[in-house]
Amino acid sequence: MIPRPKIIGTGAALPDRVLTNHDLEQMVETSDAWIMARTGIKERRIAVPGEFTSTFATAAARKALEMAGVSPVDLDLIICGTVTPDFPFPSTACIVQSNLGATRAAAFDLSAACSGFLYGLSIAEKFINGKAATTVLVIGVEVLSRIVDWSDRNTCCLFGDGAGAVVLTASEGSSGILSTHIYSDGGHWTLLHQPGPGNRTPASQELLDNGERFIRMQGNEVFKLAVRAMEEAAHTALSANGLTVADLDYLIPHQANRRIIDAIGKRLGLGSDKLFVNLERYGNTSSASIPIALDEANRQGLLKENALVLLDAFGGGVTWASVLMRW
Ligand code: UT7
Repeated sequence: MIPRPKIIGTGAALPDRVLTNHDLEQMVETSDAWIMARTGIKERRIAVPGEFTSTFATAAARKALEMAGVSPVDLDLIICGTVTPDFPFPSTACIVQSNLGATRAAAFDLSAACSGFLYGLSIAEKFINGKAATTVLVIGVEVLSRIVDWSDRNTCCLFGDGAGAVVLTASEGSSGILSTHIYSDGGHWTLLHQPGPGNRTPASQELLDNGERFIRMQGNEVFKLAVRAMEEAAHTALSANGLTVADLDYLIPHQANRRIIDAIGKRLGLGSDKLFVNLERYGNTSSASIPIALDEANRQGLLKENALVLLDAFGGGVTWASVLMRW
């Protein structure tokens, strides 16, 4: 029998520092009304000096392990989805492994932008299905505030920092992950990217002067692609399992923009009571947004046993992904 991966613990960690839309009004020419109307975001959490990607990843992982009742030494694998690692190398996953004392685990980072956490779940599923791992920690974490241009009103109101994590284990029951689908279209890589520093654009004074270390996004184009891709991914996930939208108990989408989420809900014909949304408090935390939302939904007791839950993401690359599971 092929083991079915099941999430047995969730956790999240966010910086204490809150940056509101009113704070942003003091920094760039914008307004709370514009940001709320165009994005649905009210405030976001921002790391302070001394807080790093590994800080939040470790804290979220500890909470997920505690809920799961799993000791760090029982982890076989740690996958960390992030585009804002502590260092180019070693991986943030290795730093988390050391912080946790997860001495038996293999650990690596995964770069798929906002789809990073779902890509991580997909890899965890394959390891567990193939019996190469029994217990896996998957983290989505970002400190985007350090690659945001705080003088650019087009992007600075969108992003936030934080981490979410889950512990998965092999189970024999009918609940757990039913399917994962991951997709990329690198032809659109320029729509959402951080130009440097990197191998093509090494660190230099010129890079700093040109603002090339900051996120660049063609928001409108990304918006349109995101709605189409996430709707299609939702249909594919359901039909691959012989299910329909009517069977869904919860859709937990990537939290980038309230209008994107509402458009997907409308296209799918899904009631707003079945959409989990928390972006008004955290903004877009990229790979962390779905695991933070999943942890909130879980701790609020919204995910009843056997509930059908769909996770759906879209991000830079461009990448997109879905994970369908029975809770
Ligand atoms: O995480 C995965 C990927 N990311 C996303 O999914 C994000 C996708 N994109 C979006 O969420 C939206 O495109 C944005 C929220 C980024 C922008 O919303 P929009 O409705 O697409 O606005 P726009 O880019 O068409 O800009 C409209 C206007 C522009 O002014 P002009 O050129 O029409 O005069 C902007 O300069 O709004 C202006 N604007 C602002 N005004 C006040 C842009 N940002 C701001 C701002 N405050 N913060």
